[in-house]
Amino acid sequence: MADLLDIIARRRSIRRMKDTPIAPDVIERLFEAARLAPSWANSQCWDFIAVTDPEKRARLARAGGPKAAMEAAPLIVVACARPQASGHRNELDYFMLDMGIAVEHLVLEATSLGLGTCWVGWFDEDMVKDALDIPADVRVVALVPVGYPAEDPPARARRSLAEILSWNGWQHRSP
Ligand SMILES: Cc1cc2nc3c(=O)[nH]c(=O)nc-3n(C[C@H](O)[C@H](O)[C@H](O)COP(=O)(O)O)c2cc1C
Repeated sequence: MADLLDIIARRRSIRRMKDTPIAPDVIERLFEAARLAPSWANSQCWDFIAVTDPEKRARLARAGGPKAAMEAAPLIVVACARPQASGHRNELDYFMLDMGIAVEHLVLEATSLGLGTCWVGWFDEDMVKDALDIPADVRVVALVPVGYPAEDPPARARRSLAEILSWNGWQHRSP
């Protein structure tokens, strides 16, 4: 069993996937990981849609995201939020943070099960809502194509720990 940091380090955005179906119990584990996420006042402002139907997946693929992954993925996760259910403080909308945590739980669980994922934030929300009959006051925050990887990309660069971390006060470059 890999430890959590290994799974975090192993995750990549996968943009080439096999169309091999994912077993229903495996799919369920992904949403169980999301379900357990923390959230503002435990408000759990998320509703997920698992899209496996080929016609619906084709409509989502036309709404955006990396084309090859969106077209091949046997599962596309549609992460929906009810913004009013979460917190708003200091001009920050916490529903985005709640959603980020829950979706990343799902993504890391997928990684641990040998699945590839790609966060997609660049899509036409109206097209997604039309395709899936999502109510007007619900926001679609992310699409995540999920499938067995057909590529093994190298790790993308990250800022170093020395650059991102200071101790006991701001010692970073000016924003
Ligand atoms: C909130 C968010 C939105 C993203 N949107 C897209 C997207 O629309 N299309 C895409 O190809 N990748 C998207 N990505 C993936 C990033 O480009 C990727 O995470 C980043 O380049 C680092 O690469 P890695 O995930 O392989 O470590 C998104 C990632 C995040 C976290």
